[in-house]
Amino acid sequence: MLIKKINELREYIQPYKSDKETVGLVPTMGALHNGHLSLIKAAKEKCDRVVVSVFVNPIQFGPNEDYNKYPRTLDADYELCTKNGVDVVFSPSPAEMYGEGFILSNDNLTYVCPPFNYTDKLCGKSRIGHFDGVCTVVNKLFNIVQPDFAFFGEKDAQQLIIIKKMVKDLNIPIEIIGCPIVREESGLALSSRNKYLSDKGKKDALVLSKILQNIKQCYLKGITDIDALKETAFSLLNDNVELEYLEIYNSETLEQEEKANNNSRAFIACRVEGVRLIDNIKLGD
Ligand code: PAJ
Repeated sequence: MLIKKINELREYIQPYKSDKETVGLVPTMGALHNGHLSLIKAAKEKCDRVVVSVFVNPIQFGPNEDYNKYPRTLDADYELCTKNGVDVVFSPSPAEMYGEGFILSNDNLTYVCPPFNYTDKLCGKSRIGHFDGVCTVVNKLFNIVQPDFAFFGEKDAQQLIIIKKMVKDLNIPIEIIGCPIVREESGLALSSRNKYLSDKGKKDALVLSKILQNIKQCYLKGITDIDALKETAFSLLNDNVELEYLEIYNSETLEQEEKANNNSRAFIACRVEGVRLIDNIKLGD
């Protein structure tokens, strides 16, 4: 079932709720791939009913980002969802979510803003306001769908951590389920933005997962000094890959620790052919 209106979505899922069926929500921006599919499968396993939202959320894109050119493939997304037993695909327009003629301005919308010490680093550093936009839309989706469980990928680990923090801080009665990163055989993490890359770009992009693997192996061999671990990456970088950040933080709090430990996670962002790619890995087994 494809639903585009908030009221229709509420009406449609009301009987599930009355029958005390569990509802799982998988929030996405569409251009679905096997990474998204893994969340859908996890939701199908855990919940009686599964709702997938497909919404390219304008308020989480910066003015110089790819909102307009972000891939939109609703027909294919819908087909993939139906084939995989999704009950409802919810795909509202920006006007439906934010009102007719909505203005992209803080003046006109109530935002949910995660704490500064979660957003002043990694993707939040270059994408000012990005996580305010993510938390706001995810909160709206939570209020619209009122799921019991919501599924997010570790691919966007900072996003997952921030959403867990939001749910805890705002007493939202939804359990957040984190799902592992799905990769191509080559190691490249699946991403809707991989569509922008040429075949050569995809090969160059392997540097991200190679650097992370290298750091993990060094950690498992006993190196815990964070600078030393980060330095192991530099020999792998080349002119085709522009490093934005490489950091090692606590997996749950994103705090900087003195030494790497089993709870640490390495995070990387690079530009390849102008496309911003992110990846991460947990250092402990
Ligand atoms: P989107 O980039 O479409 O991702 C939707 C979900 O799929 C996120 O939870 C993301 O972490 C997960 N995902 C993407 N690639 C993955 C991979 N290779 N393996 C596992 N999971 C993967 O993230 C967003 O949309 C938006 O910010 C959203 C949460 C929908 C709010 O607008």
